[in-house]
Amino acid sequence: MSRALSPLASFRAIGAYVPEKILTNFDLEKMIDTSDEWITKRTGIKERRIAAEDESTSDMGAKAAALAIERAGIDKAEIDLVLCATVTPDYFNMPSTACIISEKLDIRNVQALDISAACSGFVYLLSVAKAFIESGMKKHILIIGAEKFSSIVDWTDRGTCILFGDGAGAAIISATDKKEEAFVDVHASADGGYADFLVTPSPGSVNPMNQKSLDEGLNFVQMKGNETFKLAVRTLTKDVKEILETNKISAGDIPHFVPHQANYRIIKAVGDALKMREDQVVLTVHKYGNTSAASIPMAINDLYEAGNLKYGELMLLDTFGGGLTWASALLPYAGK
Ligand code: UT7
Repeated sequence: MSRALSPLASFRAIGAYVPEKILTNFDLEKMIDTSDEWITKRTGIKERRIAAEDESTSDMGAKAAALAIERAGIDKAEIDLVLCATVTPDYFNMPSTACIISEKLDIRNVQALDISAACSGFVYLLSVAKAFIESGMKKHILIIGAEKFSSIVDWTDRGTCILFGDGAGAAIISATDKKEEAFVDVHASADGGYADFLVTPSPGSVNPMNQKSLDEGLNFVQMKGNETFKLAVRTLTKDVKEILETNKISAGDIPHFVPHQANYRIIKAVGDALKMREDQVVLTVHKYGNTSAASIPMAINDLYEAGNLKYGELMLLDTFGGGLTWASALLPYAGK
């Protein structure tokens, strides 16, 4: 075992929560002009989870977080930072969803904040948590990706409503002095030149909430699907190749490739470009759809609960979303 002189960040535990209600492609056939065949062929999605009307993003995030804390085997009083990634916060302006989750978990007097990086949110949080830990400022950070995407979807728009689902995932990132437990690398990047590819125009300072913005449906997510698709494949392939090359790790040596679960065709294209075997690629898109910032931690949780994630095994994460933002991470699982 090799020890580091300054603190390193480690991925200590995972948790997730999925709402009970399942919305299948056959249910969608009854709502809009689509078919199970089209959705399956173009996206790989068969069903997605939808939160109850009275279930908020923070409700889901708190449940995922409670599980991660329990599995980490730490006392919640040891947590010194709470970070939440979401684009469907409980309230659009304030308070932050991280503050509300802290209250629901009775985590008191710690810094709590949200970040907005859409589907890339969870991997963005890994980079933020890494920096806080390595600077010595924090020791146990609770990070959460939670989304009630159904609350911003236009259920008459077949180009978007078939894709998204609700859910939450959370992790505990802790300081360690063991090099074999430490994050290897995190890349996070953005290009605001593509801001209009994925946008929820209102509410905000550009389009404040008023009758006009509601009448025009500006409160719903709008997506240039096909353009986003092509850019996602190009950008992710390049980004993932770069992180592997920089760290001199071959794709064949990664036990777990956990890509953002947006569309099976994107996952397949990137996996094929890296020559990944099927058994390396974690897939949940068929059962959860795209849950934005919750997608990666929900997928890691599935891997864990299936008994397939062991201490020290390397994970390669990649994600892409509104902003546009993208990110990838290489890190071992450091939990039990
Ligand atoms: O999470 C972050 C980022 N988001 C993404 O990564 C999403 C990326 N984009 C996609 O996943 C895909 O672009 C979609 C699944 C959204 C759409 O698939 P596509 O193969 O790009 O289809 P398209 O938009 O080019 O549309 C092809 C046809 C159109 O009909 P025409 O004009 O050819 O007659 C659409 O109107 O498919 C039609 N169409 C549908 N038909 C049945 C679009 N949505 C549907 C639908 N059911 N739900």
